Amino acid sequence: MMIRKILLTSLLCLASFNVFAAGDYDAGKIKAYTCTGCHGIVDYKNTYPTYKVPRIGGQNKEYLVIALQGFKSGEREHKTMNLQAEALTEQDIEDIAVYLEAQTNNPEAE
Ligand code: HEC
Repeated sequence: MMIRKILLTSLLCLASFNVFAAGDYDAGKIKAYTCTGCHGIVDYKNTYPTYKVPRIGGQNKEYLVIALQGFKSGEREHKTMNLQAEALTEQDIEDIAVYLEAQTNNPEAE
C-alpha cells in the first residue's frame, strides 16, 4: 500500500515536471490544429491544393523546436512557414513539439 502511494506520488511529480519544464501535450494538441491542414498527420499531404509537406508527426522534439525557431527568426526561409512560426511564442513551440513528437501513427515510423 505504502509503496503504491510512493510510486503514484513520484509519477505525479514526473508528470507535472514535464508540464512545467517543457511543453504541454494537451496545449500542443490545440495549438497544432492549424498545422495539420498542411502537415496532415496521416499521409503528409496538404489537403488543398494537394502537395507533399514534410512529416512533422513523430519527429524528434529537439528537431522540431530548432526548425520552428529557425522559421520564426527568419534564419530558415520559407514564406509559409515563416508566417506560421512568427505567430508562435517559445511556449507554443515547446507545446507543439511535445505533441507532434508523440504522433507516431504513420507508416514511415513503424
Ligand atoms: C500552409 C501550409 C502549412 C501550414 C499551415 C504549416 N506548415 Fe509547416 N511546412 C509547410 C511546408 C511547405 C514546409 C516545407 C518548408 C521547407 O521546405 O523549408 C513546412 C515545414 C515545416 C517544418 C520543418 C520540417 C522539416 O523536416 O524540416 C516544421 C517543423 C513545420 N513545418 C511545422 C509546422 C507547424 C508546427 C505548423 C503549425 C503551427 C505548421 N508547420 C503549419 C507548410 C505548412
